[in-house]
Amino acid sequence: VQTATGVAHSKFILIGEHAVVHGQPAIALPFPLVGVESVVDYVPGSVKLDSTFYYGPIETAPDSLDGLTNCIRKTLTKLDLPCSDLLIRIKSSIPPGKGLGSSASVAIAVIRSLFAYAEQDYTEEDILELADISERYAHGEPSGIDTLTITSELPIWYEKDRPMCRIEPKGDFYFIVADSGRMGDTRSAVESVADLIKSAPKRIQSKLDRIGEVTHRARNALESASKHLLGQMLNEAQKELEALGVSDAGLNRLIYFARQEGALGAKLTGGGNGGCIIALARNEVHSRQLSEKLKKFGAHAVWSFALKKS
Ligand code: MEV
Repeated sequence: VQTATGVAHSKFILIGEHAVVHGQPAIALPFPLVGVESVVDYVPGSVKLDSTFYYGPIETAPDSLDGLTNCIRKTLTKLDLPCSDLLIRIKSSIPPGKGLGSSASVAIAVIRSLFAYAEQDYTEEDILELADISERYAHGEPSGIDTLTITSELPIWYEKDRPMCRIEPKGDFYFIVADSGRMGDTRSAVESVADLIKSAPKRIQSKLDRIGEVTHRARNALESASKHLLGQMLNEAQKELEALGVSDAGLNRLIYFARQEGALGAKLTGGGNGGCIIALARNEVHSRQLSEKLKKFGAHAVWSFALKKS
């Protein structure tokens, strides 16, 4: 039996996070600058994992890996493979807990590697269904946007329970993704917004609606190459995310600094309360300058990412 490999890139949410869980649209971008590789080999004994966090049989893996280990069991059942005699080595360059879809990318790379090992083809639906098992542990009530973006090569427009569509930007957009250094917990951030809705339904619903509105305008901005409009929409969304209590001091510090240094817009990305921010630079040169400045200002990691017109 041969060694088999599966890979998956990461993602970031441009706009619409949290509101997307409650039926509003969101836009997310595949983020190929970081990713996961999973390599499967025949090794007699139980199914073992070799990852940064854990080395050993899946039976004794820590609770934090329950989502992944269940996803592996379901994938093996689907493939008619016994749950034994495998070593799954996972290498990831995605910082976990930073809103970049690490949990979904790991699951998808592992699922792809198991299909390759079994020499079976898969459909996108197979991958999404199996990855959802893992996402339910990581997010509680995931909207599904992370897995869809990680299996896409183009920006996606997504509304829960509707067919997603791909967005074709009409201009080049230069983004910076900067890591605040603190890990966020998407599950508890999503739960905190659900609690707010229970306590003040009207007030919170109007914030979610507002995020939906600016997300529509952000799509127009991408499709009409209007970077100033896109920047304004990112700032508007951030205002609402702050009011929802999912932006912390570390994120705000980076966001305000990026705007002060000329970013057209800046906001948190993903679950928030820790994790990463995104900033929209004026052009390619500004993107390099801003990225250096954010590093000096204390961002733990910074990536410059160009979304090119398609
Ligand atoms: C997480 O990347 C995005 C959230 O909207 C949760 C979700 O959509 O499942 C916060």
